[in-house]
Amino acid sequence: MENFIFHSPTKIIFGKGVEASVGEEVKKHGTKVLFHYGGGSIKRTGLYQQVVDSLKAADVDFVELGGVQPNPRLSLVQQGIELCRKENVDLILAVGGGSVIDSGKAIALGVPYDGDVWDFFSGKAVPEASLPVGVVLTIPAAGSEASNSSVITNEDGWLKRGCSTPFNRPVFAFMNPELTFTLPPYQTACGAADIMAHVMERYFTNTPNVELTDRLCEAVLKTIIKNIPIVLEEPENYDARAEIMWASTLAHNDLLSTGRTGDWASHQIEHELSGIYDVPHGAGLAVVFPAWMKYVYRRNIQRFVQFAVRVWNVEEDFFDPEGTALEGIRRTKEFFRSIGLPVTLRDLEIPDDRLEEMAEKCKKGPDGTVGQFVKLTTEDVLNILKLAK
Ligand code: NZQ
Ligand code: ZN
Repeated sequence: MENFIFHSPTKIIFGKGVEASVGEEVKKHGTKVLFHYGGGSIKRTGLYQQVVDSLKAADVDFVELGGVQPNPRLSLVQQGIELCRKENVDLILAVGGGSVIDSGKAIALGVPYDGDVWDFFSGKAVPEASLPVGVVLTIPAAGSEASNSSVITNEDGWLKRGCSTPFNRPVFAFMNPELTFTLPPYQTACGAADIMAHVMERYFTNTPNVELTDRLCEAVLKTIIKNIPIVLEEPENYDARAEIMWASTLAHNDLLSTGRTGDWASHQIEHELSGIYDVPHGAGLAVVFPAWMKYVYRRNIQRFVQFAVRVWNVEEDFFDPEGTALEGIRRTKEFFRSIGLPVTLRDLEIPDDRLEEMAEKCKKGPDGTVGQFVKLTTEDVLNILKLAK
């Protein structure tokens, strides 16, 4: 196990009806709030009015900015920064999913910064301050409600880039599983793929002796595998929705990374798909992850055997570990397909004429490679995209 610091300061307020007290919680952290939301789902579900009522009841002054799109855009972030400065906002309240939360985090970083907020996403500057961000979560998926990252798309070049900093951890997150009853099945499934990907990025590691976190990862994966088919049949099954919602947070608040080095190549590769083609992040991951697995499993077949046996209940063939490993990969892909997700670029309606460009653009580390389990070159990334065709 490697040395680690684990600091997950987000206060989680979880359960039925909890969002009614959002105004009171906001009041502890700010006096003037930006109420930030997406394309209208919260107006249709009535959550918008509940939040307004709660803010008013707590006597909290607020301005609002809706219209965050999935794969949130830099231009709206810049608009939000201007608005917050003009209105002297001192807390961002993000009500929605990963896109709204990430947009809110980027605004929070931009308000106290003199330069262009994109500097934090392009790697030109490191954040030194931000406004606090609070969350009311409506979709279990990105894990942004407790993560240290924000992912924004710059329309100039369609670059989708992340910024990770401790400032990005929200101060509180209200999580009521009932708010997820209205999710369309496809969004539920995309969320599942993202949650599973966050765990698998951590699971496939070269760090030895990480038994506890292996077991925690397996528990989160098995919880998703069991409960997603249930909510696809019964969207208002509270207990299943609750399991999934809590899993989304634990998958990405870094508890599962303690003492180990994760991979993250599949995420970097996927960001090129959703950056250019505006597909849901989870759908892109359902396509990329199985292809990545097929490309790299030989690096540590035993780890893939463990994954197959413990997560997918594959019977271990001691004479054919490779066969066992491949069966685990096949079942991963089959699960994604069974819950209605695309598993090939063709399913996603992504043509193959820009694969070289995506492989080239995919964000690499200082040594020119992406990922840790296997350090991938541009050519490797291209091969993975070709495997995903
Ligand atoms: O915009 P509205 O109208 O609210 O509709 C949303 C949106 O269309 C809808 N929705 C959300 N809650 C709903 C609902 N519809 C009905 N009922 C509800 N309760 O769902 C759609 C998708 O929402 P979005 O916020 O885009 O989904 P998600 O949470 O999957 O976020 C995706 C974004 O997060 C980034 C992704 O790259 C992507 O841009 N990620 C952020 C991470 C982080 N900050 O830590 C990590 C992830 O790896 C990921 O990269
Ligand atoms: Zn993700």
